[in-house]
Amino acid sequence: MEAQLKAMRQEALRELEQITEIDTLTEIRVKYLGKKGQVTSMLRGLGQLDPSERPRMGQVVNEIRTELEECINAKREALKALELSHRLASERIDVTLPGRKPLIGHKHPLTLTLDRIKNTFMSMGFNVEEGPEVETDYFNFEALNLPKDHPARDMQDSFYITENILLRTHTSPVQARTLQATEPNKPIRIIVPGKVYRRDYDATHSPMFQQVEGLVVDKGIRFSDLKGTLELFIYEIFGSNVGVRFRPSFFPFTEPSAEVDISCVMCGGQGCRVCSSTGWLEILGSGTVHPRVLEMSGYDPNQVSGFAFGMGVERIAMLTYGIDDLRLFYENDMRFLRQF
Ligand code: FA5
Ligand code: MG
Repeated sequence: MEAQLKAMRQEALRELEQITEIDTLTEIRVKYLGKKGQVTSMLRGLGQLDPSERPRMGQVVNEIRTELEECINAKREALKALELSHRLASERIDVTLPGRKPLIGHKHPLTLTLDRIKNTFMSMGFNVEEGPEVETDYFNFEALNLPKDHPARDMQDSFYITENILLRTHTSPVQARTLQATEPNKPIRIIVPGKVYRRDYDATHSPMFQQVEGLVVDKGIRFSDLKGTLELFIYEIFGSNVGVRFRPSFFPFTEPSAEVDISCVMCGGQGCRVCSSTGWLEILGSGTVHPRVLEMSGYDPNQVSGFAFGMGVERIAMLTYGIDDLRLFYENDMRFLRQF
């Protein structure tokens, strides 16, 4: 029996040695120390031994049982520690990895341009006004000295809602709205940013675009005030090296009228697709407010006079950033927009 015990002990220790998972430990415990386990049945077998041998053999079996129990417990602790170190290694956070940057947006180039335009005029003491995009024929045309059937209406072909309501073709109706909302002959100094609509579509014309209207009314306002204000504005936006040209023009609501061009920043005035080979690009229409316009909205043209202008925001953005097709602003291509 003693030889049998020794063999069993060695076998048990060898098995324990080879174990790599905690679950298998339980199997070994059951196999040797369980109710039907080998050590347990040895203990039971003691009864059949010669009484003189029983105490000694009993002691040997008990020693083996204690040893196995201790070994199993020790192995369990060792395996647990191993498992923990594996987990720590596999879940370790690499603090040297670069972080994931959140995607932060920014203002659209047209908004950036509009902000600059607004800031420049606000620094000259202009207030910012707004008006409706869906406008009546009266404010869009008639109050601006453009009666029905006036041929100048053709230059601004538009989208009509009903016969007398349309998407405004320019921000000029806010001139008449502001004159009528202000006590007659009181001074006015406003800019009016906003969206306008026309039946246009090419590299420099969009069906929806933005304008900034300007209106100054006071005693003794002259064309030279218009010229000085616009030149200051243009040098502020494009730098003082840009060429500026006042070109005689016609608007029914200003007299005299001028369109203002700047030298083409795309080709430096050589002539290209953007400036239609002229070397100049029109950025705005302007003039001295027509006495009829003041009169129709309750102001007295004998007491006050004024100037007005209306500029295209897309054109100014094109020239600022060197973009040769205004439609890019509205295509929402991230490769384009990310550059600003
Ligand atoms: C007007 O709209 C007048 N209301 C401007 C004005 C205001 C004159 C006050 C006198 C006094 P015009 O149609 O030229 O004028 O347009 C003004 C500017 O808008 C143009 O110089 C151009 O820069 C821009 N523009 C015109 N049509 C388009 C279009 N389809 N897409 C983009 N910009 C345009
Ligand atoms: Mg024009």
